[in-house]
Amino acid sequence: MSAPRHFLQFKDLSGDELDYLFERARIVKARFKSYLRHWPLQDRTLVMIFEKASTRTRLSFEAGMQQLGGSAIYLNTRDSQLGRGEPVEDAAQVISRMSDIVMIRTFEQGIIERFARHSRVPVINGLTNEYHPCQILADIFTFIEHRGPIRGKTVAWIGDSNNVCNTWLQAAEVLDFNVHVSTPPGYEVEGERAGLYGTDHFEQFADPMDAARGADLVTTDVWTSMGFEAENEERLRDFADWQVDAEMMRAAKTDAVFMHCLPAHRGEEVTADVIDGPQSVVWDEAENRLHTQKALMEFLLLGRVND
Ligand code: CP
Ligand code: NVA
Repeated sequence: MSAPRHFLQFKDLSGDELDYLFERARIVKARFKSYLRHWPLQDRTLVMIFEKASTRTRLSFEAGMQQLGGSAIYLNTRDSQLGRGEPVEDAAQVISRMSDIVMIRTFEQGIIERFARHSRVPVINGLTNEYHPCQILADIFTFIEHRGPIRGKTVAWIGDSNNVCNTWLQAAEVLDFNVHVSTPPGYEVEGERAGLYGTDHFEQFADPMDAARGADLVTTDVWTSMGFEAENEERLRDFADWQVDAEMMRAAKTDAVFMHCLPAHRGEEVTADVIDGPQSVVWDEAENRLHTQKALMEFLLLGRVND
């Protein structure tokens, strides 16, 4: 049995494979929009393990697997043995003998890595404290749809250097674009935690306006990620000047798009006029989770296909 391919962090896929996936997602999306049946994963089963809340990730994986002809099973910490201390390694052995592909949303990246080491089937990261690779697949696909290739472009990340930020930074290295990051003092990017190769694809700015200047895409995320709720009050104070507003969007290119992985907090990390305004592509971004993850599951199970 050959070792399964996993998608645990963005750099697990090469630039060439990502180019294939974006093109495949375009085809899979067009088929779905035309009501054409596309069942390459008929009789295959996806198991989704959630240790944190989700709307988009659960829905897009579950609907996506059904649309590919397969079925999806939802497990969460509360009502599976995972919440009662069954070792991750044992769970991986068992779950991967009964299914064809697994998606996990959990806390430390180490948990998903341990699971993957003991899994017979591909494992997909549906968000960890460190990374959210499926989100950035959808975000870049959305950028390509609206503005063409991302290579050489500039993304401005305003706010917390969290899982989504780390993933943008990895993507910049793999796909050769630039990220301007501005975080409050004390919340700066940690290169090692972000899993960077160390190439020169990002720059940190003390002033968020400087990060936004000339950007092709401005993006942000919640100030307090899941698992960090105890820091919420402190973060509300620390991040107050890192709100994406109309003035910040004006510093970016005139045709810059705004993205947010959602859920959003209007009046905190972004103003309502920006997220609900003409430059925002957040609903396309959310929808594209579905299409890109269908292309991803097909690729991890079947490799490149050209039907
Ligand atoms: N963006 C995202 O992953 O959303 P959910 O937390 O709703 O899955
Ligand atoms: N950074 C956020 C993303 C939610 C989709 C979190 O981890 O909670």
